[in-house]
Amino acid sequence: MPNGHLHELFVDELRDILGAEKQLLKGLKKLADNAQSETLKMAFQEHYTQTEGQIDRLKQVFQSLGMSARGKKCKAMEGLLEEAEEIIESFEKSPVLDAALISAAQKVEHYEIASYGCLVTFAKLMEHSEAEALLAETLNEEKETDLKLTDIALSEANQPA
Ligand SMILES: [Fe+2]
Repeated sequence: MPNGHLHELFVDELRDILGAEKQLLKGLKKLADNAQSETLKMAFQEHYTQTEGQIDRLKQVFQSLGMSARGKKCKAMEGLLEEAEEIIESFEKSPVLDAALISAAQKVEHYEIASYGCLVTFAKLMEHSEAEALLAETLNEEKETDLKLTDIALSEANQPA
């Protein structure tokens, strides 16, 4: 089984991102609660719903592999969310905090984009076409979220402090 090790890596990374998405749900609640801009608050709330969908999609990926969906604690997400928490504690609700929240959220998005990007490649290499399509769908959503956050940063930066 030449792809044996790649399969293990694939499953391990799937568990990592499943754990990460679940951890992020809590984080997104906090980000939304602390956003001053209504646009930003809504973007975080929308991404919360989207993240729930991404968790379901990951469960479908496990199912397509004939496996039960099991996540593991993602230390990277834990660290990213800890930093977001520190930011929330050090600033008052303000456009500056909003900018910091966007920065924290974009770091999360970039982690997820890297993870899903690798997972799509692994799925392609092992010809798991159903998993590949599902993962690619989420990868696109993460990229769109990242772009949307940049747009908000640019438009809200023009608001008076
Ligand atoms: Fe996600």
